[in-house]
Amino acid sequence: MLLPTRLVLLAALFEGVLAGKAIKDCVFNGTMATMEDNCTRITGSLTFTGSDDIKVLYSKLAYVEEINGCVQVVGSGYIRLDFFARLRSVVCGNSSYTVDFAVANNSALERLGMPVLKVNRLGLTGNPKLCITSEEATRYTNVQRGSADNFTLCQGRAGVLKECNSTQNGFNGGLADGCELITGNLYIDGQNNANISNKLQFVKEVYGRVYIRATTLNNLTIPLLEKVYASESTTSTLLDPTILVDNNNNFTSLDVPKINFMAKNDYSFVTNDDSYVMNQDLCNRLSPFGKVMSNETVCGNCN
Ligand SMILES: *[C@@H]1O[C@H](CO)[C@@H](O)[C@H](O)[C@H]1NC(C)=O
Ligand SMILES: *[C@@H]1O[C@H](CO)[C@@H](O)[C@H](O)[C@H]1NC(C)=O
Ligand SMILES: *[C@@H]1O[C@H](CO)[C@@H](O)[C@H](O)[C@H]1NC(C)=O
Ligand SMILES: *[C@@H]1O[C@H](CO)[C@@H](O)[C@H](O)[C@H]1NC(C)=O
Ligand SMILES: *[C@@H]1O[C@H](CO)[C@@H](O)[C@H](O)[C@H]1NC(C)=O
Ligand SMILES: *[C@@H]1O[C@H](CO)[C@@H](O)[C@H](O)[C@H]1NC(C)=O
Ligand SMILES: *[C@@H]1O[C@H](CO)[C@@H](O)[C@H](O)[C@H]1NC(C)=O
Ligand SMILES: *[C@@H]1O[C@H](CO)[C@@H](O)[C@H](O)[C@H]1NC(C)=O
Ligand SMILES: *[C@@H]1O[C@H](CO)[C@@H](O)[C@H](O)[C@H]1NC(C)=O
Ligand SMILES: *[C@@H]1O[C@H](CO)[C@@H](O)[C@H](O)[C@H]1NC(C)=O
Repeated sequence: MLLPTRLVLLAALFEGVLAGKAIKDCVFNGTMATMEDNCTRITGSLTFTGSDDIKVLYSKLAYVEEINGCVQVVGSGYIRLDFFARLRSVVCGNSSYTVDFAVANNSALERLGMPVLKVNRLGLTGNPKLCITSEEATRYTNVQRGSADNFTLCQGRAGVLKECNSTQNGFNGGLADGCELITGNLYIDGQNNANISNKLQFVKEVYGRVYIRATTLNNLTIPLLEKVYASESTTSTLLDPTILVDNNNNFTSLDVPKINFMAKNDYSFVTNDDSYVMNQDLCNRLSPFGKVMSNETVCGNCN
């Protein structure tokens, strides 16, 4: 029987995954330039005034999950705060700040770009282009803003990128046309994916993980995909691989030629599909972010 074997293998695999991902504690001492890269927890209060290049912030902060300190983004020209796309909590605890996380007077800011952040007091004042989705409106329960502040509720094309949900077991990932950012996991499931290449042709970012399961696809290319954040709203010990390819009969290859950022997981890619042929390019691209495993073998000499 194939199925029980597969389940045993997966169980064994997930125990491996349980070993957990690296935690890196850092102290912010006032200068971003001297901050280490790839910190997951920061102690110290952070103030951004726009003087830090967004690329630098991205390389310093994109793995941060927790900040033990207060955060202020004031007077910047940032369009999104997606260098905090994995940020889960901010605890300020300094009574001289009126909010834990202040976002004020950012003339270009269109979207917050922090899909899993929960914070006690969020300040949103003087950001004329900012819009908030209904999901954000329910997640940020305590928003402080001035009477003149008038941000709009947005859905669909929300700011620079068209944002979409993907649904489990949906046709073609449950996706609309023209999606660029998937706000949760990307699910490519089941047998109704005749148009999946069309649906995925503009996708650049996924805030969750990527699942390709029980499809009849032979191969898949996500030509513009750059970032798979696998953002977690809670600390979890049981982590799926960042990309999971499972239970497909005929699937031979996945191509993500533009990938440049993924969560750091024990496993960045896992498949047990017999049809899958690991290729060196995928191995090289994904290995910096976790082991790349096919048929229980970690590819190449990487990681
Ligand atoms: C912050 O840390 C860096 C590197 O450790 C050090 O060079 C710098 O002097 C520190 N700055 C302050 C204000 O402590
Ligand atoms: C609280 O914030 C103020 C203003 O930034 C600072 O001067 C003070 O040292 C902070 N207090 C603590 C306990 O960190
Ligand atoms: C935002 O700008 C207004 C008007 O210039 C100013 O009164 C206010 O203090 C600024 N807010 C912050 C947090 O700097
Ligand atoms: C506030 O937003 C509403 C709805 O988007 C818009 O009709 C209105 O003109 C805005 N008011 C101001 C002062 O910007
Ligand atoms: C995504 O799904 C959630 C929950 O079903 C819903 O609240 C939200 O409006 C959807 N977002 C988009 C962009 O469709
Ligand atoms: C597939 O996608 C293309 C482009 O988005 C669209 O024109 C076409 O109608 C779609 N076909 C089906 C069957 O949905
Ligand atoms: C990829 O899959 C499609 C349809 O499933 C097929 O037509 C095409 O030949 C495949 N390409 C490769 C390189 O296997
Ligand atoms: C999948 O592969 C099987 C043989 O392993 C073949 O019979 C079947 O036609 C293939 N299905 C598709 C959709 O390519
Ligand atoms: C998977 O690994 C086993 C054991 O190493 C090997 O016998 C088998 O041929 C491999 N299957 C594929 C599809 O590579
Ligand atoms: C940060 O993470 C990236 C991606 O895994 C890696 O290439 C880089 O070496 C890391 N930098 C440090 C200082 O750990």
